[in-house]
Amino acid sequence: MTQANTTIEHLGAEYFSDPYSVHARLRAEHPVAQVIMPGGMPAWLITGYAQARAALTDPRLLKMPRDWRPDPESLFAALDMHMLNSDPPDHERLRKLVNKAFTARRVEQLRPRITAITAELLDDMSARQEVDLLTAFAFPLPVTVICELLGVPVADRDQFRAWSATIVSETVSPEVFQAHATAMLGYFRDLVAARRREPADDLLSALIAVRDEGDGLSENELLSMAWLLLVAGHETTVNLIGSGVLALLLHPGELARLRADPALLGGAVEELLRYVSPVNDATLRFTSEPADLGGVHIGPGEVVLVSLSGANRDPSRYADPEGLDIGRDSTGHLAFGHGIHYCVGAPLARLEAEIAFGALLERFDSMTLAVPPSELRWRPSSLIHGLESLPVRLQTRHLHQDR
Ligand code: HEM
Repeated sequence: MTQANTTIEHLGAEYFSDPYSVHARLRAEHPVAQVIMPGGMPAWLITGYAQARAALTDPRLLKMPRDWRPDPESLFAALDMHMLNSDPPDHERLRKLVNKAFTARRVEQLRPRITAITAELLDDMSARQEVDLLTAFAFPLPVTVICELLGVPVADRDQFRAWSATIVSETVSPEVFQAHATAMLGYFRDLVAARRREPADDLLSALIAVRDEGDGLSENELLSMAWLLLVAGHETTVNLIGSGVLALLLHPGELARLRADPALLGGAVEELLRYVSPVNDATLRFTSEPADLGGVHIGPGEVVLVSLSGANRDPSRYADPEGLDIGRDSTGHLAFGHGIHYCVGAPLARLEAEIAFGALLERFDSMTLAVPPSELRWRPSSLIHGLESLPVRLQTRHLHQDR
């Protein structure tokens, strides 16, 4: 690794529970810092807003290391040949295939269905006084939506939750990782075979048709696309809803403000995206050549991690960045990334979050944490900042009214 005039910071397990303080400390001295990630990977971690935004559009930072060509028969090839790991021109070709399914207009058509799924989940929760909000609501809502869109059986969702958690974990053993990735691949191979025999009106069938009509999508790219879309639906909106609810519970003044004025909802979702940043550090990027990033010289072939949550709390971009203010202008936040890999699912995530927060507040007059905040546990991942569970106590006054 390139020698720099910075010290190398070893990030420990505390990075999983509180990445924000680590970012604040690093940013103050080295907005582009040399670190060892909690899982042991050496990287350059960018925590300054201006540096992060520039890096996300820097053509010298590639998603696929230049000389990395996996064996086409390998597990990696079958799972990793997706748009988020691709550079131009492959990236554009792959993204174009699904872009249309996620435009704001197409996504808006899903509003009635998302509202119905939300209401059903809230009905189940209303019968109980205490629930794990992640398992009862934040997880099943976006997962049901993406499963229906893709054409993946919703009944299998708990299975994916386990596979998906393993894949983003930094503490799982290589053996468990391999076993879960293999099982997930087998599942998708069977599902693709089933849809080939019997196509349905879903995104997976449409992608299979593209593949089989010889439009330049390889079998590995098809499998990789399917699991990317499914995992992106599992690991992101879930935590925007879960950690977003927690943020509101820990800021009762903001929660009361939102209850009093539902017109603030759209802005509140943006502020929660900025504040929570469910994707903590963006996915790996590699320097294709020597590059100066934020005045720091980085050699070729090194790993660069753009910290989205670090950028979103940079005081040079947002006043009082550690404060939650649902009325602030959070425009320009990087929670969905920036540049060519900007989240394709952003319109869907925004719609789901708006419906979820709106309905939750309308249904429950009172919502409180059922455990002290110090007892909450965070998942062992630098990519995803998310809770293991969120026990809450709920109280409804107008059960089943207006439906
Ligand atoms: C709150 C929810 C979400 C957040 C915070 C989020 C965040 C992100 C971020 C930060 C990236 C870029 C990563 C990078 O550059 O390294 C990204 C890319 C992506 N997201 Fe999302 N996402 C969310 C929801 C979704 C949903 C619901 C889908 C479902 C379709 C989705 C699909 C994707 C895909 C396919 C990409 C790759 C885009 C590309 O490489 O061109 N995301 N997302």
